[in-house]
Amino acid sequence: MSKANLNTQSVLSMKGDGYYSQKTIGAKNAIDKTKILIEAALETMPKKDVLKIADFGSADGGTSQEMWFNIIKKLKKNGDDRQIEILYTDLASNDFSVLFRTMQGMQGNDNFAYQKKFKNVFVHGSGTGFHDQLMANNSLSLGFSATAMHYVSERPCMIKDHVHMVGSNDVEKNKFKKQALIDWETILLHRSKELISGGRFICINFGIDEQGRYLGNTGGHNMFNNFSKLWKNLEKEGIISNEEFINTTFTQHYRTLDEFKKPFDDPDSEVSKSGLILKSCKTMFTDCPFKVHYNNNKSSMTSNQYAETLIPTMRSWSETVFKTALEKRDPDQANDIVDRFYNSYMNEVAINPDGHAMDYIHIVMDIEKV
Ligand SMILES: C[S@@+](CC[C@H](N)C(=O)[O-])C[C@H]1O[C@@H](n2cnc3c(N)ncnc32)[C@H](O)[C@@H]1O
Repeated sequence: MSKANLNTQSVLSMKGDGYYSQKTIGAKNAIDKTKILIEAALETMPKKDVLKIADFGSADGGTSQEMWFNIIKKLKKNGDDRQIEILYTDLASNDFSVLFRTMQGMQGNDNFAYQKKFKNVFVHGSGTGFHDQLMANNSLSLGFSATAMHYVSERPCMIKDHVHMVGSNDVEKNKFKKQALIDWETILLHRSKELISGGRFICINFGIDEQGRYLGNTGGHNMFNNFSKLWKNLEKEGIISNEEFINTTFTQHYRTLDEFKKPFDDPDSEVSKSGLILKSCKTMFTDCPFKVHYNNNKSSMTSNQYAETLIPTMRSWSETVFKTALEKRDPDQANDIVDRFYNSYMNEVAINPDGHAMDYIHIVMDIEKV
């Protein structure tokens, strides 16, 4: 199997042991903002005996836990006593033990361990990726996914002079775009099978907004360009090889609004014919919480302290990509190199923090199976 076609499973995992949730408050803030849309969908969808919910690409479950707690609390308060099954899905390589401990109230904030707080709520896990069908036909009332479906099922090529498709050349970019379109249709067709008639799939995905903005590129520095520049510096210093640089290709594609809408725009597409319609689609900006905190506390906080909060949030989801590119090396040596890389980013932010941030850009979609 070529490097480009390496299955996503081996290179995608978030850093485990609860690290992901602890460092990704911004992702949680974005999820929390989706609560209103989900509650509105729950009010209007057909009421099956069992309310079956799925959270696709949930990582350790920590970032969405408070939202699910609040949604379930409201349902119960409004007299909806149906049994609720909630399925957390991620890749088999995900740290599911943290997820299950979190749901049991043994880790994280036990105030939101809704499984323990409410009766008749059943938590399950599935290690089957979302490019496959993972539930029975016509069984799912509400599918949800946050910040996960920008991961493509395979890398269509390696990116030669950058680490991410946002900085790739046109030929490379088109290959990623094509793969992402195939994947998006596949994802939708599987959700269409799983959903009950009248069921909803609500997802907030990383993408490129009307102004060309995307994660870490909202006006100041471009985070992915910085990744690329600082990783290249290590190559120039002879610390990593050119092969290792090229192998550092994120298995991701940031779709534009048009790319997200494409399967719905054509009434004859497989997706439309399967009964899925797009009820709404909009872009959502979420401030980098570390930037906000720093801006509000400049008198008591040093730029160094800002860097020490900002870089770990970037590291929580990107580290595996850099480490995997060094897989032929002794693990201790690879760890040292990756530490050095993130430290160089930290130094850059500490020297001049202006314009450094990781603001989030999501494309929010509400999809119905009719
Ligand atoms: C950035 S995290 C987002 C986690 C959480 N949903 C949130 O918003 O904080 C992306 C997650 O998607 C998962 N993922 C990537 N590709 C996947 C796939 N094909 N099937 C299921 N999960 C996938 C990753 O393993 C990771 O846990």
